Parts: sequence; C-alpha cells; structure tokens
Amino acid sequence: MSAVERVPWPALPTDARGAVERHLTGPYTVREMATYNSGVAVLLEFADGARVFVKGVPEGHDQVAQLDGEERVNGFLPLSCPRLLFRLKAAGWDFLGFSGLAGEWADFGPGSTDLPAVASMLSEVGDCDVTGLRLPSLWESYRQWCDPADEVLFQGSTLLHRDPTASNFVVSEGRAHLVDWAWPSIGPAWVDAFIWAFRLVVDGGQEPHEALRWASRVSGWKSATPAALRVFSQAEARSWAQSVEEAPGDEVVVALATAAEKWASRWA
Ligand SMILES: Nc1ncnc2c1ncn2[C@@H]1O[C@H](COP(=O)(O)OP(=O)(O)OP(=O)(O)O)[C@@H](O)[C@H]1O
Ligand SMILES: [Mg+2]
Repeated sequence: MSAVERVPWPALPTDARGAVERHLTGPYTVREMATYNSGVAVLLEFADGARVFVKGVPEGHDQVAQLDGEERVNGFLPLSCPRLLFRLKAAGWDFLGFSGLAGEWADFGPGSTDLPAVASMLSEVGDCDVTGLRLPSLWESYRQWCDPADEVLFQGSTLLHRDPTASNFVVSEGRAHLVDWAWPSIGPAWVDAFIWAFRLVVDGGQEPHEALRWASRVSGWKSATPAALRVFSQAEARSWAQSVEEAPGDEVVVALATAAEKWASRWA
C-alpha cells in the first residue's frame, strides 16, 4: 500500500475545503492530528464547543478502500464510536467527516487508568450486532500467511477492528472511543483482544503476562485457544515481515516486525 503525502488543511485546494465547509455550521479553528496514513487529518473546532474530525486521501488512491471500509461499518458500531457525518469527493480529494471528540490517545503503559475503559470498549465492539453487514472475513486477509488447514481457526462471526493501537483510542471523560475503522472484518471473538495485548507490549511497554491479563478482561477472549493464538501470531509476524520488504527504511515498520516475531515465538 503506497503512502499518502500529508497535506496541511490550508494547502488543500479551496474547492476541496469549500465542499467540506458546506457540511459545517460556521467558523472553525483547525487542529492538525498526527497520523501515519491519511493525507488529511484535522479536528475542526467551533465556537460553541462542537467538533468535526475530517480525514481524506487523494481521489483514486489505493487508500480509498480504507475510507470505504470506515463508511460501510460506521452505522453498525457502538454509539461510543464517532458517527459518520459525511462522505464527499471534491477537487481531487475524498473525505470522511465524523463527530469529533475532545480527548487524548489512550495510555497503554503499566498502571494506566485508561486500560479498564479500553477493555470495555473492545467488549462492546465484540457484542455488536452485525446482521446484514457485508465485510471481508479475517481469513480472506490472512490466508496468504497460513496453511489452508488453518482456516478453521479463523472462523467466527464477531466484528473486528484489527488495529487497536494506543493512537486509535481517544479517551475522553473516562471513556475510551475506538476510531479509525479502516480494516473492519468478521472473525473470531478473541482477535482484537489478542492484538490489543500485543500493542500493550509494543505501544505501552507492558510485560506480556500483564498484557494478557488485560486481554482476558475483553469478553471475546474466552474463546481463544493456544492453536489459534500460535497460528494467528505467526501470520501477523509474516505479514509484518512483508511490510519490511516493501518499506525497508521505515523504522516504525521494522520495529513492529521485530516485536511481532518475538510475540509469535511466545506461542510457538
Ligand atoms: N472522531 C475523532 N475525534 C477526535 N479525534 C479523532 C477522531 N478520529 C480520529 N481522531 C484523532 O486523529 C488521529 C488520526 O485519525 P485516524 O487514526 O482515523 O487516521 P489515520 O490516518 O488512519 O491514522 P493512522 O494511519 O496514524 O492510524 C487519531 O490518532 C486520533 O488521535
Ligand atoms: Mg489511526
């Protein structure tokens, strides 16, 4: 997947900003948000305290598929996830606009008081009714890293976010809100909790046994089996190794691939 060059809000074509502004309620101030992927990611703040979060990529870019995923899943998400307000294309840009939150990234470190709220948010996702929602299965994304006989370990009917990093939770007034639904899938109930545990180690510097203790507070975790964790963690490690081949100079990706390899070796 190719990267999108970051474009500050004032540098967008006037017609692109104007098209977004037609969905807004008045003058605003702009906060540029840190991202790895989107070309545009801004929190627009209004005098009355309202906020709108806008993310965008150039029209036709291969990351438009991620915007499509976010648009498709939004109406099925728990109410604590930001609502989609608009999707629009203008002046060569493709945008999503969401209800905006005031808050900070979750702290995944040892002793963080954000962790119970994150566990609750992930349990809420696992309880979502996704009847009628058409999404790729987890197996579709992972089969290339697995033996065909592993398919049975990837079966399930739970909504998955697949990227529960610290930066994808906005914590506000003691609640954790899961954002950035770019990779929604359907699969086994334990998957997001397991990826969260990995991220508690990588993003939060937690000891693996502590990370797993937190994962066990997510309702879907109880369906995890050692065989499934082994196969999934190996598949993740292979997928990160491929990302390194595609972007050998990307230090973030290299560090994640090394951590994923170590994580997989715990389950071997
Ligand atoms: N609805 C929202 N309200 C307030 N802040 C938000 C909202 N959605 C996202 N953010 C903030 O903006 C940041 C970037 O958003 P998001 O993760 O959706 O973009 P992205 O381009 O996919 O980023 P990355 O590739 O880094 O994950 C998030 O880390 C979060 O801090
Ligand atoms: Mg993100």
